[in-house]
Amino acid sequence: MKSSIDELANRIENALSIDEKIRPQQGSTDEVTTRDQSKLGNAEHARISKDGNVNAEADQNCVGIDSDSTSSSNDYGASQSSSSDSDSDDERDIYSGPPPPLAVHMPLLPADSRSVFAKDQSALDAIVEIIRNGRAKKIVVMAGAGISTDAGIPDFRSPGTGLYDNLQSYNLPYPEAIFSIDYFKKSPKPFYVLAKELYPGQFVPTQSHFFIKMLADQGLLQRHYTQNIDCLERVAGIDPELIVEAHGSFHTAHCIGKKCRKEFSQSWVREKIFADEIPRCDTCTSLIKPDITFFGEGLPSRFFDLLEHDFSSCDLLIVMGTSLLVQPFASLVNDVAESVPRLLINRVRVGEARLPGSGFDFDGKHVGRLHRDALILGDCDEACSLLAERLGWADRLAELRSTFMLQKTPAAAR
Ligand code: OAD
Ligand code: ZN
Repeated sequence: MKSSIDELANRIENALSIDEKIRPQQGSTDEVTTRDQSKLGNAEHARISKDGNVNAEADQNCVGIDSDSTSSSNDYGASQSSSSDSDSDDERDIYSGPPPPLAVHMPLLPADSRSVFAKDQSALDAIVEIIRNGRAKKIVVMAGAGISTDAGIPDFRSPGTGLYDNLQSYNLPYPEAIFSIDYFKKSPKPFYVLAKELYPGQFVPTQSHFFIKMLADQGLLQRHYTQNIDCLERVAGIDPELIVEAHGSFHTAHCIGKKCRKEFSQSWVREKIFADEIPRCDTCTSLIKPDITFFGEGLPSRFFDLLEHDFSSCDLLIVMGTSLLVQPFASLVNDVAESVPRLLINRVRVGEARLPGSGFDFDGKHVGRLHRDALILGDCDEACSLLAERLGWADRLAELRSTFMLQKTPAAAR
């Protein structure tokens, strides 16, 4: 991992033009400590061939998503040791091999169940139809590190490849300590060493970012809520007004001294970080920290300011590339109206809960409730490409990417 990050870090520059200031914060991040990890249950999956055809297959035929491997690869366990509970060779095989084929989940619902989707419709067909027929005009996207892994940025919790499995050299008491405010106050160095490696710059946005940009260009994006601090949404050209960086960003930095809170420019902090110095306040000598939301800190107020309006008006929720293990972000999936369709695109099943109304219900297990959860298991980029193709937007998506590549060559981006 380090070499790929180094390679990308070499291209890192202070190239982003992010004007938004992080406002005062409220709430705080908190990791979910218990979760229902339901197995595949009463359902089928359909593999999708490159031409977009859907071929129904039994669960056990879906590589990497049979019920045994799913339950283990999903088992992130308690908050402070996300990888230790899922440290088997089997899981590593899932992640070290080629990515599993895209699989569309098709629940076998009881005949008398109610669903926002037409009977026997695959998740893919259902969502495509909802967008095509104009039922979805205020789409909210919720995203995590999985939309950026194809850009070469590791996610946090994928066994083997995730950041939290690769921090041994940092000598941390537990992997998430690197983003813990209490640990940072005592030991800031590990964070700054990592920040140097992950510093945002010229990572190229993925198909997923461009798909979201396309939703925005079509006037269909109510808001994009991202947990990512890589700024790739902005790099892809999505209007910052349409983005909520729920866990902050590197763009601004502040002194952590309670009474001081002096702001420092990104370029000044960057210079210190790249000189392997620990940035300290010239007024009060306290540590300076980029405005990334650490565990134990409040989320940006923009998150709280916008979420009520966005989620109550949302008519289609798309969740992509996140383990949904960090609160309060994860619980936003429950904030859309009960009749609003929700699509999860992820390599593994996440966000399911035993209690009705507290998470996804892909299998229609919650008797009496309107079925409205669709699942595409697999790579976000592949799923976005396929969605675009089925929506008749493939050319536009390709154009967005090629225009970006032409305009944002390393020289142009500086
Ligand atoms: P995680 O690493 O917890 O989850 C990423 C999810 O994306 C996993 O379920 C992966 O299986 C999936 N995934 C990875 N690559 C994918 C791909 N190409 N296509 C589809 N799925 C893919 O990352 P987040 O959920 O973003 O917080 O983590 C949430 C927060 O935890 C982060 O914002 C960070 C971290 O601690 C803070 O730093 C405060
Ligand atoms: Zn200060």
